[in-house]
Amino acid sequence: MKKICLLLMSIAVMGFTSCGAVAENSTASAEVTAVSLSAPNQAAASASENTEAAPSRYTYTAEDICNLQDFLLGKPTEEVLTGKPYDLDRDGRWDTFDLCLMRSEVIRNTDPAPDNDTLVVCFSRTGNTEKIADYLIELTNADSYFIEAAVPYTDADIKYQDNNCRANKEQNDKTVRPEIADPLNSIDSYDTVFLGYPIWWGEEPRIIDTFLESYDFSDKTVIPFCTSGSSGIGTSEKNISELVTIGNQLEGRRFPAGAGKDDVKAWYDTLPLNKGNEDMKLKISVNDTDLTATLADSTAAKELAEKLKAEPVTVTLNEYGGFEKVGKLPWPLTRTDESIVTEAGDIMLYQGDQMTIFYNSNSWSYTKLGHIDNITAEELAELFGEGNITVTLSY
Ligand SMILES: Cc1cc2nc3c(=O)[nH]c(=O)nc-3n(C[C@H](O)[C@H](O)[C@H](O)COP(=O)(O)O)c2cc1C
Repeated sequence: MKKICLLLMSIAVMGFTSCGAVAENSTASAEVTAVSLSAPNQAAASASENTEAAPSRYTYTAEDICNLQDFLLGKPTEEVLTGKPYDLDRDGRWDTFDLCLMRSEVIRNTDPAPDNDTLVVCFSRTGNTEKIADYLIELTNADSYFIEAAVPYTDADIKYQDNNCRANKEQNDKTVRPEIADPLNSIDSYDTVFLGYPIWWGEEPRIIDTFLESYDFSDKTVIPFCTSGSSGIGTSEKNISELVTIGNQLEGRRFPAGAGKDDVKAWYDTLPLNKGNEDMKLKISVNDTDLTATLADSTAAKELAEKLKAEPVTVTLNEYGGFEKVGKLPWPLTRTDESIVTEAGDIMLYQGDQMTIFYNSNSWSYTKLGHIDNITAEELAELFGEGNITVTLSY
């Protein structure tokens, strides 16, 4: 428990040292050490007059994190903080533990990939199709949604040797639509939907039909995939195309139960949507390693892509705060700053003319430029090392 607290404390210290304020680099860490080890007078005073324990329904935002950070650093705050529920651990004062808890909550509540345009949907009763879906999610970095039946399928329900089992009865009646537990509210933000299922009696399970009829696919690219004992995917593909209007239904793929990640990758690489995606990637070369990044949907990201199409640029990024590398771009880009809690791999525009690559989290106002693909925080931190780095960007 003690170890966890110390770890949380050090994460908090790392997190709020800069809040992106590069100009204050030299003094920030000294101030923070003092704050983290003993609560400042201001915080102690506020505990009696300001502090309200966190109510369960309060939704913390990036602004709250900045407020509390500024408060703990003794800086003026944008808002009056009287009555704010910042005593999350209910110990009668505002301190770095509250900041840790607040940051965790904001990160938890943040849409994991708001710019993601691909969704992997899967129904799997015995895990075979789920495994394929997991490989796909890993390959594509897509969002995922696993369909669960409101009334779960028991082993007896899928015992297809029994003519009267639930699955057989459902497959015998094309009009049956088993209810889905916790359906997605919307799929509007996605352009591409991978749709996975097992073959039941040569077709897609009826619950897949429930899913398809619940949303509008008329502007989506849909790519079916399935697992089966031996039957092909053809009949289910035809059923799907006849059931709802689909913008662009790509040829699907049937996998045997034991298919591996390489099989899934080999198929994924043949899909016509890959080429388009790769063309859209920002390339980042650092310390002889080539990374790719998916551009954000921002004016600045589009401007960056245009600039890099003309010629690659090399930028020196300085280490800052134990969570980011930041450096000046040769040109300013359009700022559309918003309060953001960053994640490792995020690429942000800072103050309109600096690029920041995060290998850890911070909260501040940035304009999104993109996100580095398929790399963990640990791998990124190791690649970047402790000092300044030089990166070459191309598109
Ligand atoms: C009710 C039922 C019907 C099935 N019908 C077929 C079939 O027609 N052809 C086939 O090759 N496999 C059939 N199977 C086998 C499944 O397609 C196969 O085990 C699949 O990998 C299960 O996927 P899951 O683990 O994702 O649920 C059937 C399985 C069940 C439970």
